[in-house]
Amino acid sequence: MIKIFRLKNIISVKDFEREDIEYILNEASKLENIAKSKETSEELKGKILGLMFFEPSTRTRMSFETSMKRLNGECIGFENSKSSSVSKGESIADTAKMIEGYSDALVIRHELEGVSKFISDIVEVPVINAGDGAGQHPTQTLLDLYTIKNEIGFIDDLKIALIGDLKFGRTVHSLAYALGLFNNVKIYLVSPPELEMPQEVLHDLDKTNVKYEKVDSIEKIIDDINVLYVTRIQKERFGDINDYLKIKGAYIINRKMLEGKDLIVMHPLPRIDEIDTDVDNTKYNKYFTQAENAVPVRMAILKTLIKNNPK
Ligand code: CP
Repeated sequence: MIKIFRLKNIISVKDFEREDIEYILNEASKLENIAKSKETSEELKGKILGLMFFEPSTRTRMSFETSMKRLNGECIGFENSKSSSVSKGESIADTAKMIEGYSDALVIRHELEGVSKFISDIVEVPVINAGDGAGQHPTQTLLDLYTIKNEIGFIDDLKIALIGDLKFGRTVHSLAYALGLFNNVKIYLVSPPELEMPQEVLHDLDKTNVKYEKVDSIEKIIDDINVLYVTRIQKERFGDINDYLKIKGAYIINRKMLEGKDLIVMHPLPRIDEIDTDVDNTKYNKYFTQAENAVPVRMAILKTLIKNNPK
């Protein structure tokens, strides 16, 4: 286990080494008592986090805010571009430089891939990618791995099915890259043909120890997996609504198909209809735990980046 986290910014899981992931998961475990007991610590007292959310979010934005508050820090920022001067024509670069002047780290969500990286190149404070279009969502991956470690007990040797929108789904891109850093992982890819995992991601996975296989139905693999990771078909990523309507509801998980299986169901959320609500009150449901785990994990990320990179 390394004693320091090497990165200043969290932009892409491709920048991670396994030790970086293990460092954050270990720090998150140490902070879990504070996160779950609803107490606070003084770790980031006097520090300010700048939240730049150009695209809607519930969990990511609110869990970053909660994490900062549990560490006695504070947040500033905006939750959509209409409430910032970007709506008057100010550039993203100028906006980021202004907020950098007011804060100790920036969290960025934007509908375009690469915006967090662009901002990290022009500011001095740490930058965290909170989801960039169909690109990546690295902090979601860290809390996904934390959930898997806590609920299953291991990540090496994991058998996981990624289901739904693998083309535009940034959470599954990041998770696949992260699993490539572990040993003997098998990933089953289940999606409509229109929403298959991008070739670029598969090409990168080919250079790792991960084995992956495309399968056309959940039934074929449901007895072999530890984790069923479900994603939403994202209406907002389709140029033509008819293309969305053709594949909407392609995969729906319900209680009956899970009965007797030895697995957990995860989902980054929001959910539309891809997991029936009859799964919510079963032992399989770990998607709400997953969302709660965002707090210790994002506390660990904020504490690490802000303390390692004082202004
Ligand atoms: N998982 C996730 O990114 O959810 P939000 O879009 O609500 O932040």
